[in-house]
Amino acid sequence: MALDGKLLALARKQLEDIRHHNEDAQAAHRQEVYARLPRVQQIDTALRGQMRELAGLTLWGGKAVSEDLAKLEAENLQLQQERRTLITAAGYPADYTDDRYNCPNCRDTGYTDGRMCSCLRRIYNALVTQQLSTLLRGDERFSKFDLGLYPDLPNENGNNPRECMAIIRDFCEAYARQFDGRGPNLAFSGGPGLGKTFLSACIAKVVSENGWSVAYDSASACLGAFEKERFSRDPEEKSAAVATVRQYLSCDLMILDDLGTEMSTPAAQSALYTLVNSRLTAGKQTIISTNLSERELEQQYTPQIASRLLGEYQWLHFLGTDIRRR
Ligand SMILES: Nc1ncnc2c1ncn2[C@@H]1O[C@H](COP(=O)(O)OP(=O)(O)OP(=O)(O)O)[C@@H](O)[C@H]1O
Ligand SMILES: [Mg+2]
Ligand SMILES: [Zn+2]
Repeated sequence: MALDGKLLALARKQLEDIRHHNEDAQAAHRQEVYARLPRVQQIDTALRGQMRELAGLTLWGGKAVSEDLAKLEAENLQLQQERRTLITAAGYPADYTDDRYNCPNCRDTGYTDGRMCSCLRRIYNALVTQQLSTLLRGDERFSKFDLGLYPDLPNENGNNPRECMAIIRDFCEAYARQFDGRGPNLAFSGGPGLGKTFLSACIAKVVSENGWSVAYDSASACLGAFEKERFSRDPEEKSAAVATVRQYLSCDLMILDDLGTEMSTPAAQSALYTLVNSRLTAGKQTIISTNLSERELEQQYTPQIASRLLGEYQWLHFLGTDIRRR
């Protein structure tokens, strides 16, 4: 769900396509009418001339001018009336050659008075959801979670990865199916390629299928959006970031993937604190996955963050050998 400028650019491109499509359709209608009713084309040329004249007159001002203005207006109305009569008499709807907009509000430009129009936001939000569904479109399913990929031998600590992962899988499946917006927060820890992202996707799918809103993002993209929300000087990028951050904070389940891979900056720390703390305060669930051990986490993050992550999250330690390298 890394919204940033990229998705917004995509949304604006879609709107531009709509605009071009409408312009083409309108141009075709006009040509069709001109071919059948040459007089309409003459009228349009005359109307354009009047517009130029009008612009000239309003520049001059004065009394003599206001008489000219009135005369021009009368002629203008007359021409428009004649045009309408011709078009409807030929069997076309009166607005057949008019400009056409999917959104009359912003005339498909996406902005009104410099503010993002709701039509653009709608397209944008659809893209955001679509992005989450790339996570949901994959075929990660609890039923496809293969325990055979985890060694069935005790490791150096005497833990059997396959047995431990069976417990984790069952726990996560129950968590997802019973999700009611009140369960614990989870932290998945373990080395690379052990199925943390895979299990997150399984949970995301079930929870969102049950009608809860789910947001998923990597820590770097997520914390980056917080930074853009605060610091971006580009109004579009900023309003996109505002929308994303709102979603991160308000969704029923937030999945923050790959915590610890983001650039460690004061802004990222502050963003992580805001995310973790706001969601805890609001009683909303979060799932974090990380390669960091609990000890490394304490080293990398402020005590306020580490305390919350270690104290308020249920930690699940993934075991096994890197599945990517099998
Ligand atoms: N239990 C599983 N059954 C089937 N495929 C799996 C399982 N676990 C992981 N995989 C596959 O192995 C690959 C690595 O898994 P995944 O991306 O979930 O690892 P990860 O723990 O998130 O790693 P990283 O810490 O590097 O992000 C993926 O292609 C995933 O689909
Ligand atoms: Mg991962
Ligand atoms: Zn609009």
